[in-house]
Amino acid sequence: MSNPLPIQFHATDLELLSGHTGRISVLADAGAALSPAGRRLDRLMKGALARAVASDAFSKARPGDSLELAFPAGLAADAVQIVRLPKRADIATARKAGGTIGRTHGAAATLILGESHPRAADLAFGVAMRAYEFTAHKSGEKKVLGPVTMMVAAPEAVAKQAAPMAAVAEGVFFTRDLVNEPANVLTTHDFAARLAAMHELGLHVEILEEPELLKLGMNALLGVGMGSESPSKVVVMQWNGGKKGDAPFALVGKGVVFDSGGISIKPAGGMEEMTMDMGGAGVVAGVMRTLAMRQAKVNVVGLVGLVENMPDGRAQRPGDVVRSMKGDTIEVINTDAEGRLVLADVLWYAQERFKPVGMINLATLTGAIIVALGHENTGVFSNSDNLCNAFLKAAAAEGEGAWRMPMGDGYDAKLKSRIADIVNSCGRDGGAITAAQFLARFVKPETPWCHLDIAGTALLKSDTALAPKGATGWGVMALDRLIRDRYEKG
Ligand code: BES
Ligand code: MN
Ligand code: ZN
Repeated sequence: MSNPLPIQFHATDLELLSGHTGRISVLADAGAALSPAGRRLDRLMKGALARAVASDAFSKARPGDSLELAFPAGLAADAVQIVRLPKRADIATARKAGGTIGRTHGAAATLILGESHPRAADLAFGVAMRAYEFTAHKSGEKKVLGPVTMMVAAPEAVAKQAAPMAAVAEGVFFTRDLVNEPANVLTTHDFAARLAAMHELGLHVEILEEPELLKLGMNALLGVGMGSESPSKVVVMQWNGGKKGDAPFALVGKGVVFDSGGISIKPAGGMEEMTMDMGGAGVVAGVMRTLAMRQAKVNVVGLVGLVENMPDGRAQRPGDVVRSMKGDTIEVINTDAEGRLVLADVLWYAQERFKPVGMINLATLTGAIIVALGHENTGVFSNSDNLCNAFLKAAAAEGEGAWRMPMGDGYDAKLKSRIADIVNSCGRDGGAITAAQFLARFVKPETPWCHLDIAGTALLKSDTALAPKGATGWGVMALDRLIRDRYEKG
């Protein structure tokens, strides 16, 4: 993990600017005048900057994109990158502009002329987010992020604005690292150990082992892990920064460290991607880390079910019937519909023990949500318009795609089983919705609840504005904002 927001804020300094030997990024907008420092830089460049800003090419650049001038005359710098950022840019555009800088800069020192741009801190956040790299398993020399300095009119004020953003970046990077990690490294044991280490940040972390889970009656969860050499675990992380005795908000995550499909085994092509099937648990862990890092004044509990779904002589079979902690029996039609079995027990446990004021679960639950929404939006399912709308609003403010999906009795009726109370799989049609209906069976009517199906958004095959290809950390920013805006006091 790289150091989040490794950015120094500095007052504008012409000497530093003219002697800088790395890269210089200048914020400018087409059709607008250059900033004061921009004008000074332009004078050193004998007018080349102003000409570039007035050029056709720059006017065609979209907000957040850039134009590059290599080895500019009159400067010691290797390159001047002109980043198009309107003065009134929203948060997402400012972050995208930062992402453009974070993507293009290598080990060379980067100097950003931020001056009095109102979104300077958001831009800095974007630089850090996009500069993330997962290098844990790369041999040889590792690229290091060159130092980044941002010249701003009020360095202390911007640094103060950026401080809580560093906590968010820490959380997102923690999630990305977990999701990028292969399953031979991130076993249930290793995952739990990384969560336990967050004790240092002031989180209260408990690990429930198999004998305890058996005693609690979590047979739906335990059935999934029977074919694996890695023991199943439930990890409970509590952040109690709010009033003592106030019921917490609950986050619940699917943590399948590898999903082979079990006896209903998946085809070989693409199976390697199923190392990301703990993505829901990864996001829960990332949010808990952010809350602790920024000392949030709120009570939140994060619970994750950590299991591995493998075929074996001891593995669960299609046709098996298991009794969930709630008491409902489940006919396991397909051992590859395992995430809902894990969540059924963890959702129930979360409500029984904590009586949360609200509950959101995240899971890479279905391929069907990718068919429905692609990779742009997470599928949102809810029993509460209130909580759902608040979440959608937070996600929109953070630029994280989220789209509400329908639920209803007609879908629930598909869960009927011949020999048990419900089945865990009922065909392809509306597969993401019937999966959500299954989870809803384990949500008490008094608990406002959202289910986020992140199968299409947790890991991407191509780069985005704020992340290189691989794990995105989708949801950490939106959930942190939801908690801040809706549940935090003071
Ligand atoms: N982990 C998968 C869902 C998934 C698919 C996540 C693609 C990320 C990318 C889940 O456990 C699964 O296998 N779901 C099945 C359910 C079916 C058997 C009812 C699916 O979507 O095919
Ligand atoms: Mn599966
Ligand atoms: Zn799965």
